[in-house]
Amino acid sequence: MLDIVVLAAGKGTRMKSALPKVLHPVGGKPMLGHVLDTARTLNADYLNVVIGHGAELVEQQYQNDDVRFVLQAEQLGTGHAVQQAQQHLRNDALNLILYGDVPLIKIETLQSLIDGIDSDSMGLLTVELANPTGYGRIIRDGANQVTAIVEEKDASPEQKAITEGNTGVMAIWGKDLNRWLPQLSDNNAQKEYYLTDVIALAQAEGKRINTQVVLEEEEVLGVNDRRQQAQLERYYQQRQADMAMQDGATLLDPSRFDCRGELTLGQDVIIDVNCVIEGKVSLGDGVRIGPNCQLINTSIAAGTVVKANTVCEDAVIGEACDIGPYARVRPGTVLSKGAKLGNFVETKKAIIGEGSKVNHLTYIGDSEIGDGVNVGAGTITCNYDGVNKSKTTIKNGAFIGSNSSLVAPVTIGENATVAAGATITTDVEDGALAVARAKQRSIKSWKRPTKK
Ligand code: UD1
Ligand code: MG
Repeated sequence: MLDIVVLAAGKGTRMKSALPKVLHPVGGKPMLGHVLDTARTLNADYLNVVIGHGAELVEQQYQNDDVRFVLQAEQLGTGHAVQQAQQHLRNDALNLILYGDVPLIKIETLQSLIDGIDSDSMGLLTVELANPTGYGRIIRDGANQVTAIVEEKDASPEQKAITEGNTGVMAIWGKDLNRWLPQLSDNNAQKEYYLTDVIALAQAEGKRINTQVVLEEEEVLGVNDRRQQAQLERYYQQRQADMAMQDGATLLDPSRFDCRGELTLGQDVIIDVNCVIEGKVSLGDGVRIGPNCQLINTSIAAGTVVKANTVCEDAVIGEACDIGPYARVRPGTVLSKGAKLGNFVETKKAIIGEGSKVNHLTYIGDSEIGDGVNVGAGTITCNYDGVNKSKTTIKNGAFIGSNSSLVAPVTIGENATVAAGATITTDVEDGALAVARAKQRSIKSWKRPTKK
């Protein structure tokens, strides 16, 4: 049986933020969200989260989740934080202690920490550090057994020279934790109840302390300020880029790729620099994404090309489409095979049929466009009368001349033609030509006004 205790009550003073620290994102997801997802992957029975600063906001964000919140009204140390959850600590469960501001620990690391524990030992995750300043130091005896953790502020100069640091992550049986927690004291430099003091208690009882050493520091890096947040963001994005390349994608520059969601990739996808992926995005075989694109909750089928500076959100894009540069594909856009959206085209709630082209400077909203339609430059669907939204229907094979306004609700019939510059307010029959503009006049020998 595995239970999790996440410590997330700290203030995060150095973030200088109105938002509780653990709600600050890494890779588009709150740090606490990463920790909870990791805990779920480990199949824990209970997720206990100790909250304090900004408790209401944290609770609000995860109120519908499988989380049990425990309030630590006053932050008297990491040991005190776990004490607040003591009522929930089951004697026969292994308790894994995690931190809401340490978001990127790998599942494998935690799993092997857990796997190394038997009924008479506890687990401790440590890290080898180039600069251990600020970390609790791991004290080992002649037989290399851990005997204690000494906090920076309580450490002697010799102890400060130790480069093995405490990550804070521990796995302890409930029966042991329930016995040790009441024994913690705040008799130390910070006048805090240190969770780390359980190590000396374990040692005194002759428990085996099974350590697992993390090699990549970032994996266990806690975020205290925005610089560390940015550092973790880069580390996370490097991992995302590695995963994309392992899946067979070409990233023209892995250091200029940002995935703040879940990306599903076909083979031979090519992504140019400075693209941002958010939410759930899937890219089919051979999809090419040009530079500076933002893709949000969008699926793009095989062979489609998205050119530079295009934004797609909540869109479903079919095979072999051609989009951008500079297209804005808004929620509810559905493109069929071979459709084209060119530069400065905006679509919203628009269904666009096979092979249809909307190539320049156009707004298509609340519309259904059939197959093989050509929408000329500067066409606007006038879908909004200031109060209501109305629908425009353009049937198969229609041709919309440039700079037309289609005042919805309106239907353009199959193979109908709309003359350039028309303002269409009534339905156009199949096969008809609709001309709706003042007839051109020519006034001979026209004298231009002169300056008075
Ligand atoms: C702690 C460890 C230290 C370790 C370091 C790793 C202790 C005594 N020290 O030190 O050995 O090297 O983490 O980063 O455990 N928290 C609460 N309530 C509290 C105090 C803390 O919820 O009353 C939470 C904080 O929100 C934070 C975490 O516990 O997420 C760590 O607290 P922090 O004050 O940063 O501990 P450190 O001094 O860094
Ligand atoms: Mg800290």
